[in-house]
Amino acid sequence: MSGYAWPAWAEAILQARPERSFAVRSPSSGQVVAYVADQDEDAARQAVERSVAAFEQWRQTTPYERAALLRRWFNAITEHAPTLARLTALEMGKPITEALGEVRYAAAFVEWYAEEAKRVYGDVIPNHLPHKRLFAIKQPVGPAYAITPWNFPSAMVTRKAAPALAAGCTMILKPAEQSPLTALALAALWQQAGGPPDAFIVLTCADPVLVSQVMFADERVRKLSFTGSTEVGQLLYRQASQTVKRLSLELGGHAPFIVFDDADVTHAVREVVASKFRNAGQTCVCANRIYVQAGIAQAFGEQLAQAVAALRLGDPLDEATQIGPLVDEVGLAKVQRHVDDARQRGARLLVGGAGQGGLFFQPTVLADVSRDALIMTEETFGPVAPLVPFEAEDEVIRLANDTPFGLAAYLYTENIARGVRVAEALEYGIVGLNDGVPSTAQAPFGGVKQSGIGREGGKWGIEEYLEVKYISLALR
Ligand code: SIN
Repeated sequence: MSGYAWPAWAEAILQARPERSFAVRSPSSGQVVAYVADQDEDAARQAVERSVAAFEQWRQTTPYERAALLRRWFNAITEHAPTLARLTALEMGKPITEALGEVRYAAAFVEWYAEEAKRVYGDVIPNHLPHKRLFAIKQPVGPAYAITPWNFPSAMVTRKAAPALAAGCTMILKPAEQSPLTALALAALWQQAGGPPDAFIVLTCADPVLVSQVMFADERVRKLSFTGSTEVGQLLYRQASQTVKRLSLELGGHAPFIVFDDADVTHAVREVVASKFRNAGQTCVCANRIYVQAGIAQAFGEQLAQAVAALRLGDPLDEATQIGPLVDEVGLAKVQRHVDDARQRGARLLVGGAGQGGLFFQPTVLADVSRDALIMTEETFGPVAPLVPFEAEDEVIRLANDTPFGLAAYLYTENIARGVRVAEALEYGIVGLNDGVPSTAQAPFGGVKQSGIGREGGKWGIEEYLEVKYISLALR
């Protein structure tokens, strides 16, 4: 942490020593970065009371007032982007240059929803009787509870909080135990921008179960938005049913990345690196299985191995670092297991393949991976690119769709007809057609099948926080 001039508000987060607390450790050095409050059920109950009371005020503000406030929050996030990026790099190991990119992505959600707050329209419905007039209006759902993951400590927070606040909802946010500092920083900036403290509450805790139970049992909390694994999402889906909450679930992925032999190979190699090795492979939309048509499989493998061998692994605070550590031991062990299993089933190691000390794992490329290898059915969440050859278009569509997941898929071809045909056939919420990084604030993000429910981002994201109310007026 040495040498960086932290602003006072960030220093306050880093120096806090709450009575009941848990440590946040850097996955790069293993050292404690800060201690944050370990809040319990009582704190959760108080947060609900505050959020419910704040909602009564916040829902009365005009969309123009909310838009102005979100715009000031956007300005504060942009101004303090280097500090937010540094907190992210320290707490979860994302390389600082990439972390800065994430903060800009996070800010883009706030900017988008500052504008979108002013574009929530209702409808006038044609009447069936002469004396009736029919209307549909949109109103905020109510206090919302959000649970966000460690892999995008700022963008997953603003992708939920910005549309909620724009719609007139209040939010209680439970950030991942590994990355609460960036979330606390975003809340501090919200308040600096003039945001009511109780409209956006960050509730930190080491064990989310007890705190979440308070939210699920309280019917005044009207909405749950969760980003994380399918396994946890299924559990939350069940628990949220007690009080029939509105749900948005953004769950696991297992993205196929298909390269046809009519693709621009150099472009496809560059893009697979961007997709697969973003955040050291720890994103839900990362390429997880790379299908390469047989005619170009060898050339593709050689070019990819060369590009991956050049990736720079190192200290997340070094601006030249491209690959940081994995977030924890469990993640590291899974990556090693996937590599070992693929090799036992006959895969050839083109580059990497082993841990590099601590939580670092070498960026890895495996060729001729067997279709029954673990890595072909489970999300790896690490820097390993498995290449699998295929022969025909219908074969690869079948392989790509043969999974319970349906978040993101990618395909590379210079043939427009094939591109459209295959994009339509893929059972996924997001398809990157010659595009390895499709995520952007104004577009819909979300999955089908066991990858989730609902969409975040764009005009779709705010609808998740709005209810439609039908008003039937009888003229007398
Ligand atoms: C995620 O991994 O869940 C988010 C990735 C993205 O927004 O591109």
